[in-house]
Amino acid sequence: MYEFAPQPGQPKAGLYAELAQAAQALTADEPDPVANMANLAALIWQFVPQLNWAGFYRAIDDELVLGPFIGKPACIRIPLGQGVCGAAAASGATQLVADVHAFPGHIACDAASRSELVVPVLRDGAVIAVIDLDSPEPARFDAEDAAGIEALAEVIAAVI
Ligand code: SME
Repeated sequence: MYEFAPQPGQPKAGLYAELAQAAQALTADEPDPVANMANLAALIWQFVPQLNWAGFYRAIDDELVLGPFIGKPACIRIPLGQGVCGAAAASGATQLVADVHAFPGHIACDAASRSELVVPVLRDGAVIAVIDLDSPEPARFDAEDAAGIEALAEVIAAVI
């Protein structure tokens, strides 16, 4: 049994530090990337409040292909450069979107989503996946969330 849970009531920086630590502990001895992404999606869901979707898209050839996630069934393939995920993958830069309806080309997988954070995962300088978080709250994510998920992306790049 795994007992990973965030300390209640702590600031975001502490929460994300704990998330990165838990992610390392959870994946350290497991070489299977699907198993690791599945557990990491569950871990994100447990640690980060106010989400309606959390998971992975993997960069395969010229598109993103759906990976393990928590949430409603989602678009399976996203061309690089399209939507928020495709923008993150094509640019290699985090996308922090306060209002998804205002993002040109946003791909709606769950009509409840109002804001979104997408962080690329880089290995040896190449984008191998993105971590996608959706929230039903407008402007749910800020720079601290972005920094926290970027730190997570670094920690997991070798195990997904
Ligand atoms: N909204 C994303 C698509 C993926 S779903 O949110 C899970 C996008 O615009 O890339």
